[in-house]
Amino acid sequence: MPSSLALNLPDLAATERLAARIADAARAGDAILLSGPLGAGKSAFARALLRHAAGDPALEVPSPTFTLVQSYELPAFRAHHFDLWRLDGAAALMELGWEEAQRDLVLVEWPDRLGDLRPAESLEVSLRPVSADARSVTLAGWADRLDRLGAT
Ligand SMILES: Nc1ncnc2c1ncn2[C@@H]1O[C@H](COP(=O)(O)OP(=O)(O)OP(=O)(O)O)[C@@H](O)[C@H]1O
Ligand SMILES: [Mg+2]
Repeated sequence: MPSSLALNLPDLAATERLAARIADAARAGDAILLSGPLGAGKSAFARALLRHAAGDPALEVPSPTFTLVQSYELPAFRAHHFDLWRLDGAAALMELGWEEAQRDLVLVEWPDRLGDLRPAESLEVSLRPVSADARSVTLAGWADRLDRLGAT
């Protein structure tokens, strides 16, 4: 069983299809950590995942850059989309409800900010810009489910 998977995402639609497959494999209690530089597509990925899980392609999914977290009631689980770029320490994260959120699905942009509060188990999604439209992605974690995520 491979412990990580590398994929090419030639355009935004490919990223959205991957996010939909991951949404179908996700369940309450999961953490999905999204890393990559500014503009890599972390928010685009989270938006596609949440829209697919909601069954609503028009679901409004604002980037939580300023609110730091946006929460969603979805048919299969609650989800919390964090953007920790502006996070000011662990106490602030606890005030955002980090601990309670662990029972639901958490999606985290800038997970390096989690420090000691990083979940022991997660799916790590690392996005890298290749060109204006293309990204490469590495998936790590979810040993029990990783083999389901590669198929396009
Ligand atoms: N293959 C692709 N996958 C994802 N996004 C893509 C792709 N091709 C183009 N894009 C575009 O790249 C941009 C990614 O922006 P996005 O806000 O998702 O980045 P981000 O990683 O969340 O940045 P930040 O660190 O500022 O939060 C979007 O405008 C999106 O349409
Ligand atoms: Mg973002």
